[in-house]
Amino acid sequence: MTRASYDVVAASYAQLIPDAHDGRPLDAAIMRAFAELANGPIADLGCGTGRITQHLHELGKDVFGVDLSDGMLDQAKKLYPHLDFFQGDITKLDLADDSLGGAVVWYSTVHMPAEEVPWQEFHRVLEPGGYLLHAFKLGNRKNHMTHAYGHDVDLDVYWHDIDETVSNATEAGFNEVARLQRQKGVDEGGPQAFLLMSKRNPAPGQTS
Ligand SMILES: C[S@@+](CC[C@H](N)C(=O)[O-])C[C@H]1O[C@@H](n2cnc3c(N)ncnc32)[C@H](O)[C@@H]1O
Repeated sequence: MTRASYDVVAASYAQLIPDAHDGRPLDAAIMRAFAELANGPIADLGCGTGRITQHLHELGKDVFGVDLSDGMLDQAKKLYPHLDFFQGDITKLDLADDSLGGAVVWYSTVHMPAEEVPWQEFHRVLEPGGYLLHAFKLGNRKNHMTHAYGHDVDLDVYWHDIDETVSNATEAGFNEVARLQRQKGVDEGGPQAFLLMSKRNPAPGQTS
């Protein structure tokens, strides 16, 4: 249902949310810090229409996007033809172990309950010491959306607790580098959270 809903809203999403961080300087600041820290290939996981992929490209990074929705990817490819976008599922990535210097997960886990966020998979594809930047809606609740971006949709939306998120990421083998919480901005329903983490290696319980 997530994939089909994003296929339907893709063109409107691209039109309504064209910019990476318009009017949101704190979001831009943590992304700039991530871009300064992360080397090597960066994957924008759940890239949607590619606005964050393009922003990281403008910051000088070697970046590509992955998304479930062909409709969102069609928009990304049309808007940013100089960048690479691939269809894929962030819960089972078609990427080699330790192959990324960085990963951005920017509001692409908002349709998953906290216990289904694939921290092990993010850990697997990052190189030791690689960085992950995660943006999500801050809170502890779930909603079902039947209308979004001017279209009928069928989407569960989850707000995640920041301590639980850090705990799940830590258990999967990440170290917290920094966290940012901010109050709601224009057109947002509530506060937002941003976590910068780095991959510890080996993960707890592993021998190498
Ligand atoms: C709220 S949009 C955010 C898109 C983009 N990161 C941005 O900030 O504009 C959520 C995106 O996550 C994608 N998504 C959701 N679940 C996914 C999954 N399991 N694998 C890949 N992409 C997924 C959706 O298709 C959608 O494009």
